[in-house]
Amino acid sequence: MHDDIAEVLISTEMLQARVAELGACITEHYRDAAEQTTDGKHEGVTLITILSGSIVFLSDLIRHLPIRMNLGLITVSSYPGPAITSQGTRVEDVSLPDVRNRRVLIVDDILDTGGTLRAVQKLLGEAGAADVRTVVLLRKQSKAPADVPVEYVGFDVDDHFVVGYGLDYDGHYRNLPFIGTLKPSVLGEAK
Ligand code: PRP
Repeated sequence: MHDDIAEVLISTEMLQARVAELGACITEHYRDAAEQTTDGKHEGVTLITILSGSIVFLSDLIRHLPIRMNLGLITVSSYPGPAITSQGTRVEDVSLPDVRNRRVLIVDDILDTGGTLRAVQKLLGEAGAADVRTVVLLRKQSKAPADVPVEYVGFDVDDHFVVGYGLDYDGHYRNLPFIGTLKPSVLGEAK
């Protein structure tokens, strides 16, 4: 599998260090939810994860968030199968706790065209969430649209198709422990 990688863009060590930094920044914002209480005074934060690409990032990130939280899951697909350009955003499944008046943090692996986050931010706004913030591990800064606010960004990357650390090509490579690009021979006729 590693033979298919053209270049490692972000190493495992860089990922781990940056995820820890993001965790510290996010914890600072939600510091009033940092202590688990039983008196009901601290409502905590709902983390909304966009499946499937974010599972690796989420699982590392939440271990750097010593705050009271619960989780919601939304499945969105824009790059089905071997597509490497957006084929349009489709919300496929929503499994949410009640987010009315809850503080919400959306967790996604990459901001590319912004279609996914735009749809999820709208959905959560309509569901009555309060203080909706977003963290992405990667952002293609050259493409990031102005109408999709993102408060926390791990790395800005050039407009490459990237895999690893949760990101896939045709369902594969999510288990690579780094972010990299694929050899042109692997991408073949992809579009
Ligand atoms: C990818 C990625 C982001 C989204 C970003 O998901 O995980 O959620 O696309 O692209 P956008 O900014 O252009 O909307 P994908 O649709 O490939 O599903 P996956 O997470 O299951 O891989």
